[in-house]
Amino acid sequence: MTPDKLGEMRRTHGCNELGKEDIGKEIVLMGWVQRRRDHGGVIFVDLRDRDGLTQVVFNPEINPGVHAKAHVIRSEYVLGVRGEVTARLEGMTNPNLATGEIEIMVSELKILNPAKTPPFMIEDKIDVSENVRLQHRHIDLRRPQLQQNIVLRHKISAAVREYYNGNGFLDIETPVLTKSTPEGARDYLVPSRVNPGNFYALPQSPQLFKQLLMISGYDRYYQIVKCFRDEDLRADRQPEFTQIDVEMSFVGEEDVMATAEGMMAKIFKEVKGIDLVTPFPHLEYAEAIDRFGLDKPDTRFELELKDISDIVADAGFKVFASVVKKGGIVKALNAKGCIDFTRKEIDDLTDFVAVYRAKGLAWIKVREDAWQSPIAKFFTDEEKTALAERLDMQPGDLVFFVADQPSVTNEALGHLRNHLGSKLGLIEENTFNLTWVTRFPLMEYDEIEKRYQALHHPFTAPLEEDYDLLESDPATARSRAYDLVLNGHEVGGGSIRIHQLALQEKVFAALGMDREEYTAKFGFLLSALESGAPPHGGIAFGFDRLVMILTGQPSIRDIIAFPKTQKAACLLTEAPSEASRVQLEELSLRIRKLAEDNQA
Ligand code: AMO
Ligand code: AMP
Repeated sequence: MTPDKLGEMRRTHGCNELGKEDIGKEIVLMGWVQRRRDHGGVIFVDLRDRDGLTQVVFNPEINPGVHAKAHVIRSEYVLGVRGEVTARLEGMTNPNLATGEIEIMVSELKILNPAKTPPFMIEDKIDVSENVRLQHRHIDLRRPQLQQNIVLRHKISAAVREYYNGNGFLDIETPVLTKSTPEGARDYLVPSRVNPGNFYALPQSPQLFKQLLMISGYDRYYQIVKCFRDEDLRADRQPEFTQIDVEMSFVGEEDVMATAEGMMAKIFKEVKGIDLVTPFPHLEYAEAIDRFGLDKPDTRFELELKDISDIVADAGFKVFASVVKKGGIVKALNAKGCIDFTRKEIDDLTDFVAVYRAKGLAWIKVREDAWQSPIAKFFTDEEKTALAERLDMQPGDLVFFVADQPSVTNEALGHLRNHLGSKLGLIEENTFNLTWVTRFPLMEYDEIEKRYQALHHPFTAPLEEDYDLLESDPATARSRAYDLVLNGHEVGGGSIRIHQLALQEKVFAALGMDREEYTAKFGFLLSALESGAPPHGGIAFGFDRLVMILTGQPSIRDIIAFPKTQKAACLLTEAPSEASRVQLEELSLRIRKLAEDNQA
C-alpha cells in the first residue's frame, strides 16, 4: 500500500488529553495502533502516543468510506485521525483509562505508515527475553514501563540542572578524547590516526579536568556527563554510564555534603513527593565494615554482624581457632526465628557465600533444649555461654558463621546479610535510607600487583592526623573521602582533594610510583598544583543507579534508553564490530588474533 501524506493534517491533542469537557470538539490525533477490534461492523482502535491511549471509532453507518479504509489497519501502524469527541455509551466507559469516558468518531483517516507485526506486544509484563527486547529496543521503548522510566530520568536530570544552576554552579563540558584517569577500571582506548601508534583514553571520570577548572578559578562546576569503564558488568554497572559530576573550591567535607544533600532533597521531593531528613547520618568506614560487612551497607534492616574472634580463638573447632591465629576473623549473623531452614536452604546459602570466596558456612540451630549443629560439640560450656550472650541466641534462631581473612569474612557475611534481608522480607518497601560513609582507607594493598592502590583515586587527600602513616604504615592511613549510600547501593562518591604539590608527590610515592612514572602520567596536574591551586573537593553521583532506585527497577539497563549487555554489546546496532581493512590501515593498526599467535 502507498501510505498517505501528512499534507495539511496537524495534530491538535495528545492521546491522553481528551475528556468529557471536550465532547463535541473536532480534533486530530496522531499515533500508533495499540489494538484493533472489529465488533461486527464497527471497528475500534486504541491509538497510542507517548502520553497514553484514546479509543477511536470507525462506524460504517456514520462514515462508510473511512470505515472501509480502516480494514487494513494492524498493530503499530502509524495513523492520523480527524473526528469528533463523543461520549461513550452507558456501560462502555473504561475507568482504567484517563480518556475512558470519551471516544473519537473518525471522519478522516490517514495511514501515515504501515508496520510489520512487532516481535512482541507493546505492553508491560510480556514474556520475552531481555536479549530480544534489546535487539528491538526502538520497539521495546514503546512499552509503558520503559516510557515511564525514561520520562522520570528526564525529570530527575531537569531537577538536578535546576538545583545547580540555581546555586551558582557552572555547567562546563570536558573532553571525551583524553588521557587515562585512574578510577580503578580498565580504559577504553581510541587509536589516533594522525599520531600513529598513539591512543586516547575515554575518561573513566572527568576527575582531573574538574580539578583543573578549580585551579583556573571556575569555582562551583557541575556536569551531567558520560564516563567509560571497561570492567565486569553487573545489574548496576554499565561500560558507559552517566555521572552527575560536581566540584567546589574553598570547601571542606561538610560543604560538599550539604550541597549533595540539597540536591537529593530536591530530587526526592520533586519525583517522589518525599521530604528527606537532612543532614543524612554518617558512618565511618571501619564501623560500616564491622557492623554490616560492606562499605555500602543497606541500613533499612538490622541483622548486624558480630565479631566472635575473641571467644573462639582457643576453641576446639580448629577451623575457627587457626583462622584467628593467622590474623583472620570469625563473625556471625543471627537469623532470628529461622530454625526451620532446610538442609537444602543451608547448602544453597553455603554456595552463595562461596561466590565471595568463603570456604564454608558453619551454622547452629538453637533448640529449646540444645544446639543442633555440626560444630556445637567443639565448644566448652563457657564458650557457649559467651556466644549465646554476644549473639543474643534464643530458641528458634539460626546462626551463621564465617571464618577467614577479614576481607573475605566481611564480604561474604555482608552479602549474606543482604540476601537474607530480602529472603526474609526484612526490607520495608518504599523506604529510602541515605547514609554517608566516611574516613575510608586511603589505599589498599593489591596482592596481585604487589603494591598499594588508591581506594578512590590518587588525588584524594589523606586525613591530616594520618599524614605520618603515609610512610610508616600506608594501609592504615585514612582519607577525606566520602561515599553516599542509598539502600545498599553506592550512589555517589567524592573527596576533598590534595591541592599541594608536596603532598601529592608523597601520595604518589606511597602508591609505589616513582617521579618518572607520575610525571609522565600526571605532569600537567603537578604543574597546575604549582600555579595557585585553591583547596577544593567534590563528588560524583551515579546518575543511572539513582534513577534505577527511584524507579524501582531491578537493573540500570531498564532506565537507559540504549544500554549494553553483560558482554558490553549493543544488540540493536551490533556494536562492537570489526573495523574494515582500510580503517585499520589509516590507524596504522593490524589485528593479530592471540589464538593465531599461539599457533605460530
Ligand atoms: P566513583 O568512581 O566512585 O568516583 O564514581 C562515582 C559514582 O558513579 C557510579 N558508577 C557507576 N555507575 C554505573 N556503571 C558503572 N560502571 C559505574 N562506575 C561508577 C557509582 C559511583 O558512586 N571522580 C570520582 C568522583 C569524585 O571523586 O568526585 C569518581 O568517578 O554510583
Ligand atoms: P568441616 O569440619 O569442614 O566438615 O566443617 C564443619 C562446618 O564448618 C561445615 O558446616 C562447614 O561449612 C563449616 N566451615 C568450614 N570452614 C569454614 C570457614 N572457614 N568458615 C565458616 N565455616 C566453615
